[in-house]
Amino acid sequence: MTVKQFPKGFLWGGATAANQFEGAWNEGGRGPATSDTAVAVKPEDRKNIEDFSAPMTREKIEFALNDKEGLYPKRWGSDFYHRYQEDIALYAEMGFKTFRLSIAWSRIFPNGDDAQPNEEGLQFYDNVFDACAKYGIEPLVTLSHYETPIGIALNYGGWKNRQVIDLFVKYAETVLTRYKDKVKYWLTFNEINIMGISGYVGGALVSEDGTQSLSEMYQAVHHQFIASSLATKFAHEINPGIKVGMMLARMQSYPATPNPADVMEEIKKDHENLFFSDVQVRGKYPAYTKRFFKENNIEVTFEEGDLDILAQYPVDFMSFSYYMSSIARHNPEEGGESTAGNFLLGESNPYLAASDWGWQIDPIGLRVTLNNLYDRYEVPLFIVENGLGALDQVEEDGSIHDTYRIDYLKAHIEQMYEAIEDGVELMGYTSWGCTDLVSASTSEMSKRYGFVYVDADDEGNGSFDRSRKDSFFWYKEVIETNGANVLNE
Ligand code: BG6
Repeated sequence: MTVKQFPKGFLWGGATAANQFEGAWNEGGRGPATSDTAVAVKPEDRKNIEDFSAPMTREKIEFALNDKEGLYPKRWGSDFYHRYQEDIALYAEMGFKTFRLSIAWSRIFPNGDDAQPNEEGLQFYDNVFDACAKYGIEPLVTLSHYETPIGIALNYGGWKNRQVIDLFVKYAETVLTRYKDKVKYWLTFNEINIMGISGYVGGALVSEDGTQSLSEMYQAVHHQFIASSLATKFAHEINPGIKVGMMLARMQSYPATPNPADVMEEIKKDHENLFFSDVQVRGKYPAYTKRFFKENNIEVTFEEGDLDILAQYPVDFMSFSYYMSSIARHNPEEGGESTAGNFLLGESNPYLAASDWGWQIDPIGLRVTLNNLYDRYEVPLFIVENGLGALDQVEEDGSIHDTYRIDYLKAHIEQMYEAIEDGVELMGYTSWGCTDLVSASTSEMSKRYGFVYVDADDEGNGSFDRSRKDSFFWYKEVIETNGANVLNE
């Protein structure tokens, strides 16, 4: 009998982001970032994340920066800044081939537009990458993961301002130059489509009158497309071995019924999601843009040469997060219950179970999406986020029996294998929040994804000490056997 396994060289690992993991928001010369103004959501409001997408005003930002009462958990994260040696050693123990992290832009350029980079910030990431190298772990680095320097919001209004392209390119060139021989895999913008949900989280957009137009959001994302292409160009010039990817929050959707009107609705929903990868992978705005922009009164200014830049410097691979699927229905009044999701609310699918936070669990949807994306783009794919946010229980002896997490991951890994068998080229898999970290949407600590537990609560109380959950030992075996323990049960 042949043993089923993942392809040789498959990049198993885990994923994090500076704003949710590092902490030390005002240490080492780091400037404040947009993530530092995020207030913790109370457990009773978990499913209501309207605030997350509300337009951000200057007053709200200034209030948060001066507030002495509110809880801003992303400022302390999980204290990776001081514990990176121990964290990376734990990843090595699990056998990680890769570790996804982001660079906090405001650690390098504290105000976003400083003349010179902050050497202490640069040195910190040198130390992190050296620690990875010690164990043969390949870093996978996101340049921008919801953590734009606050100066870019306050002094430029965010990414709707074209000047921000130059500021980002300067930052990207600085870190690419510094780490060109230490980091092979780069992602430009985390979940670039988040812009359509929160202009502030995705693009540091500041609203003068409390409103946010779609034109501003798409203008901002156009600037990010250009900035991403210019960073890709530079990366290839400085080291042709570097691979740059785009990153999409993938929302696989299904027609609610076989009614052709629902099928067409699903195509439209898919276009809204795939617009971003269509531009970044294919290097051009897709044909459906014209109608979409017209019907939604979206006006975007293109400068001469923009389309050439997009065409000349597309990404090398596509990465994405996958947590759930959604439903498309032409007439929402005929629909059923709604469900929560990462930043999106949708109609709930009666065939699927949901997590404690109401995110519907759909492993087969991952195979569907891998097939769809590979059929569409034929570039290597990388799953850089997937996982289960859950409440963990620490037993008296300190153990944590997170079988629900193991079941979730196992089911998704099985479907990844099927997709590879279908012919999909999949580079790797980095499970989200490999060490517990602060949630992006609700800023809670109690929503845990990790293999490694962090002793901290929602208010930031605790020792922040690390411990191994049952999933830690299970994932170690997954990597050791290259998936064989899951696939040959
Ligand atoms: C993704 C983000 O959308 O989902 C991460 O890239 C985030 O930053 C993850 O943490 C899970 O979402 P949440 O809200 O459960 O932390």
